[in-house]
Amino acid sequence: MLQATRRLALSRIIKGSTLNRMSINGGPAALQSRGVSTSADDLCELGRRHVTNGLGRLTEGIMAKGSGSYVEYEDGKRLLDFTSGIGVTSLGHCHPKVSQAAAEQCLTLVHAQCSIAFHKPYLQLVERLLPVMPHPSLDSFFFWNSGSEAVEAAIKLARVATGRQHIICMQGGYHGRTYGAMAVTKSKTIYSEGVFPVMPGVFSIPYPYWHQHGLPPSTPTSTLVSRSLYQLDLLLAQQSAPRDTAAIIVEPLLGEGGYVPAAPEFLQGLRDVCDKHGILLIVDEVQSGFARTGKFFMIEHSGVRPDIMVIAKGLANGFPLSGVVGRKEHTDKLKPGTMGGTYAGNAVSCAAAVAVADVIKGENILANVQDRSRELFDSLEALRSDPDVFPYILDVRGAGLMVAVEFSSPNGPGAQFDPVTKADSPKSLASRVVKACIDKGLLIMTTSAYEVVRFIPPLNISHQDLKKGAEIFGQAVRQVLREG
Ligand SMILES: Cc1ncc(COP(=O)(O)O)c(C=O)c1O
Repeated sequence: MLQATRRLALSRIIKGSTLNRMSINGGPAALQSRGVSTSADDLCELGRRHVTNGLGRLTEGIMAKGSGSYVEYEDGKRLLDFTSGIGVTSLGHCHPKVSQAAAEQCLTLVHAQCSIAFHKPYLQLVERLLPVMPHPSLDSFFFWNSGSEAVEAAIKLARVATGRQHIICMQGGYHGRTYGAMAVTKSKTIYSEGVFPVMPGVFSIPYPYWHQHGLPPSTPTSTLVSRSLYQLDLLLAQQSAPRDTAAIIVEPLLGEGGYVPAAPEFLQGLRDVCDKHGILLIVDEVQSGFARTGKFFMIEHSGVRPDIMVIAKGLANGFPLSGVVGRKEHTDKLKPGTMGGTYAGNAVSCAAAVAVADVIKGENILANVQDRSRELFDSLEALRSDPDVFPYILDVRGAGLMVAVEFSSPNGPGAQFDPVTKADSPKSLASRVVKACIDKGLLIMTTSAYEVVRFIPPLNISHQDLKKGAEIFGQAVRQVLREG
């Protein structure tokens, strides 16, 4: 009986979009009499007035629906989505198996507070993740809600496990907007501007990205790697003694800092330094994890073992969930109660994440990422080979379906010292190309302090949709360059 009632309720939820909204709300007249706005324009106006100015927004209007690789706005505008909600809806919007799993969990148990009891989806998720960890030593899990929270937990774990305080991070790195995460974020000053002091005990070295060293894109990887590792040695000799240093935190593929993959030699160099000094290596896979780069985790491309790994975004395809994974010998040093959080590891989010892990495996997502990635790189390289475009594209880079194009700029950070500054380059190329793409039906975004456009399409995107997006991008680039 209970099962039948639940099935009926579930089928109603799933058909929810076809329900007559008037019957739910009592109709527009009833809403207006209660002072509730009905038109999309009225609601947007309400948002502009009452939603914090601290939020930036890429598009105007109300995003109303999402299905697969497309989103639809309230006014009927339909866009091919190459943002995936900033790398979150990696299996496309409302993947039926993920939404179904979440809906079923909604009717079973929504909230089983993690400090009160285990719940089944939490444990099933651990069961799914254990075999895909980049190293078998990563065997102890804690789930939270956001990437920033998981970064906080990783820092806490590293400090408790080592009894040391200092954290070394990367110039160009991004780890979130809470106070600890903000302290190790060095991609743009906007994230911490005007709100210091943030968490103390943080030091940074340049990521092996040519901009961070004031070098051109043609610089050999080995030069970038040795310069970055040299700075790490200097830092440990001059600023943060190894015995005070708890962890090095690194994104194996720099996200908000410009979509720059770290060379395996760099990651191995960090591992060696950590091993030499008893420092822990925290690998932040919030944006690069869950098949985004053609392997389950970006760090696998290098074969380097993390001590602690941070995960979020694609983990649950849109349901809020993050995690910190460590070694049991380290997490056993945490006193019970030192990790937790009211909503941490929510049952609906965990059920969605279990479905995500099953879909990645069952629908051969890694193979699709690798195929579509080749097509995307081919198309961007073909665009770059056009003599009208060539002078303005500095770099095409990334891994899997985490790909970026960097344009030239007449006035980037440190322009007077930067060998790639191009005085005759049109200004703000990245944001103008993004705007032109959106006008043509492709939702895409910029990243970093430089002129970078990033591609984060769904991992199960079709050949046709990928081609369509890449063509729109090419048209947008040519149009903006013609405009000058
Ligand atoms: C690499 C990385 N770490 C951490 C975060 C912070 O995650 P959240 O926005 O969920 O707090 C992000 C978000 O973009 C990220 O890209």
